[in-house]
Amino acid sequence: MKESQPSAIYLKDYKVPPFLIDKTELTFDLDEATTVVTSRLHMRRNPLDGKSNAPLILDGGEDVKLIGVAMDGYALPPEEYQLVDDKLIITATADSFILTCETLIEPQNNTRLEGLYRSSSMFCTQCEAEGFRHITYYLDRPDVMSVFTTTIIADEARYPVMLSNGNEIERAKTDEGKTVVVWHDPFPKPAYLFALVAGDLAVKNDLFTTQSGRDVKLQIFTESHNIDKVDYAMEALKRSMRWDEEKYGREYDLDIFMIVAVDDFNMGAMENKGLNVFNSSCLLASPKTTTDDAFLRVEAVVAHEYFHNWSGNRVTCRDWFQLSLKEGFTVFRDQSFSADMHSATVKRVEDVSFLKTAQFAEDAGPMAHPVRPSSFIEISNFYTLTVYEKGSEIVRMIHTLLGEELFRKGSDLYFERHDGQAVTCDDFVAAMQDASGIDLTLFKRWYSQAGTPIVTVEDTYLPEEQRYLLTIKQETPATPGQPTKLPLHIPIRVGLLNEQGQEIQAQYQGEHSTDVTLLLTEAEQTFEFTQVSSKPVPSLLRSFSAPVKLRYNYTADQLLLLMSADSDGFNRWSAAQQLAVNELTQLIEQASSGQPLAIESQLVAGLRSLLADESLDPAMVALILALPSQAYLSELAETIDPLAIRKARQFLKVTIANALSEQFAQTYQNNIITSDYQPSAQDIARRSLKSMALSYWSETSDDKVKAAIAEQFANADNMTDQFGALSIAVHSAHPDAASMLNAFYEQWKNEPLVVNKWLMLSASQDADDALAVVEGLMAHPSFDLKNPNKVRSVLGGFGQNVAGFHKEDGSGYRFLADQIIVLNKRNPQLASRLCTPLTRWKKLKPELSVKMKAELERILAEDLSKDVYEVVSKSLV
Ligand code: PHE
Ligand code: ZN
Repeated sequence: MKESQPSAIYLKDYKVPPFLIDKTELTFDLDEATTVVTSRLHMRRNPLDGKSNAPLILDGGEDVKLIGVAMDGYALPPEEYQLVDDKLIITATADSFILTCETLIEPQNNTRLEGLYRSSSMFCTQCEAEGFRHITYYLDRPDVMSVFTTTIIADEARYPVMLSNGNEIERAKTDEGKTVVVWHDPFPKPAYLFALVAGDLAVKNDLFTTQSGRDVKLQIFTESHNIDKVDYAMEALKRSMRWDEEKYGREYDLDIFMIVAVDDFNMGAMENKGLNVFNSSCLLASPKTTTDDAFLRVEAVVAHEYFHNWSGNRVTCRDWFQLSLKEGFTVFRDQSFSADMHSATVKRVEDVSFLKTAQFAEDAGPMAHPVRPSSFIEISNFYTLTVYEKGSEIVRMIHTLLGEELFRKGSDLYFERHDGQAVTCDDFVAAMQDASGIDLTLFKRWYSQAGTPIVTVEDTYLPEEQRYLLTIKQETPATPGQPTKLPLHIPIRVGLLNEQGQEIQAQYQGEHSTDVTLLLTEAEQTFEFTQVSSKPVPSLLRSFSAPVKLRYNYTADQLLLLMSADSDGFNRWSAAQQLAVNELTQLIEQASSGQPLAIESQLVAGLRSLLADESLDPAMVALILALPSQAYLSELAETIDPLAIRKARQFLKVTIANALSEQFAQTYQNNIITSDYQPSAQDIARRSLKSMALSYWSETSDDKVKAAIAEQFANADNMTDQFGALSIAVHSAHPDAASMLNAFYEQWKNEPLVVNKWLMLSASQDADDALAVVEGLMAHPSFDLKNPNKVRSVLGGFGQNVAGFHKEDGSGYRFLADQIIVLNKRNPQLASRLCTPLTRWKKLKPELSVKMKAELERILAEDLSKDVYEVVSKSLV
């Protein structure tokens, strides 16, 4: 362990920047080994700061070498500045001046993938959140917004494409024959939105005419072998641009919008002004190499980054505690966009299912934090499901409280009031409140209080009076640093069904409706419905109107009724999940205590009628058929027994499969598509149902299924079907699974994104020597420790390998810890994210828990990056 550990910074300590940078002029003399960066910063004291003598403190990094610094052309001698802890400190400055700084950086040795680095044959940058300081000394904070002009000098033969933000304004040659390109971005922006790309890239061009009639040039750049895989992203971009005009009245502002795909990237993509940089896994798509899920992801990420142009770039964050201001809102926007492009109910189920699995687990673990955190050690650790997904749920609740029209008034006011500013979550809520006249004072607690509220509902029906009472309580469990919790403002959408499954037209607060939103604001409240003609089955929390855990003692019959008859499609899924969770909970208990497994499954009956109902959206049928995942059941468990959960799931799956074997075979046949592959909502829906049916069918002893799997694998004309068959073969121990895996690799070894899928599936396969298999994958020629996608594929796949990862001897945990230690210094962000599974140690059953904890302690004894230190130390508290 280090002598001194990194310390936290606090929201309460926020101060305005003492200096501002009106203009930033950068020159990059690009070279793989050492790039020279010259900056000219037009600086002045911030009038809002009020102090006239605060020193100038610029942020830098240990990988930035300072060559020289000058003020208004006067080169500062070493005694006039100091370098302390990566900061450049200049004590005496004028009120306004030009600071010139020359630094050396080494893109080729940059394995952290922040700042300027190399990916394959190109140069690229990643500056959010604090990457710019790895390029040059700067006021690297989002409330310092500056107009950037960027000059790139490079060898044209190797780097014919040289890009930065804004518009290209000049192109020339140096005396040595190098090319000089100058870019200018007229919109003031924080340094985290800066980007530079250079490489020998192919481009796809297109054009978009905005609603006001301006032509915008659209360009997507990739390495030449990938340029045939960008058509889908380009179309998705145009759909996003149109949607933002129609839904939010937001038009694109520059004359050119560029996207570049890079292979080595820590995250999904980045919204740099006018020059988005994407992980190639979130941009490239073609039917033969890309699954349906990945097509949808490309569309969603393209939209997300594009939407940031307004929610993030034109209006940005004052400080990083406000990250959800841009991320929560932009996730809400991209979710709404995808809902509009496809099926809203399917999209909602997928998003909620993800939230309840992964965000709820985060909220219940040692890293739990509010959507607006109040402190952090390393901001990179706060690009979390809480900030993104729960942040989006908060915006969605505002949308529910205000309704479509007032919400739009609120967003218009927000963008208009704060255009060109760096603002806070409070400013966002204030705009919504001012535009709507709806009081959101109490609602704001959602931003500051961590943890998932538990909402418990009890009901009483009074037949003589035809009254129905719902008593609703809320309680939020303690989280680290927040032992006591206050009540939140929770919108709960409710409908009432009679015993035939019809909606009851009850009266609530004087109005007749079949769907009302109850506003829970206290720890306990009773809501009264009148004119209720018969005892209702309540459909609670429709569309998941708030990110809470709902508790109501439904009988299996009530759940079956909701599952088949609720007018809220989301709650039909939710009821099926609850029924499955109830049955699985019994089975998990049996498995844990070593009893033989047995269940009187009522889910089977529900699924039988579901499969028979041809009026349903096949995608919804597939979602309802999907059993609660291993991860979700782990989240629900008091104490996690991974193998018991796996056994229970498998048992219920086989039970359902055997009971409905013929229906699954038939559903499989009925959903085979003979026309050409299309990533349309309709076809995606049918393929998902087909795959779900095949997966159940593969659990039966019907000998026709093995042939069907092999046939689908061999003859598929698209990756969804091919990979779907392969996954089912691998997980159902198909006799040909091993040879299919090999054939798959041979067929696709030149397509890295497909190889990633192969790595992931291979690492997840159940085998006695699972760990040896994974070690073999990491030594495989296709593996590359520099590439985060590959690392995540193998280690993520291994994380899903229940028996291998949770082996009683702790070897799975030890292996993961070893990888974290190796990556800790090379790529701290990646290493830190890999820690997530280990942070759940407290909930594991005792034999496993001690082993996992020991690995965290072993990691903590190393010389750690801030990123890994924060997660590991907080997990051990
Ligand atoms: N801001 C990016 C997004 O959400 C995510 C990101 C964060 C990318 C940090 C890189 C680094 O769209
Ligand atoms: Zn984002």
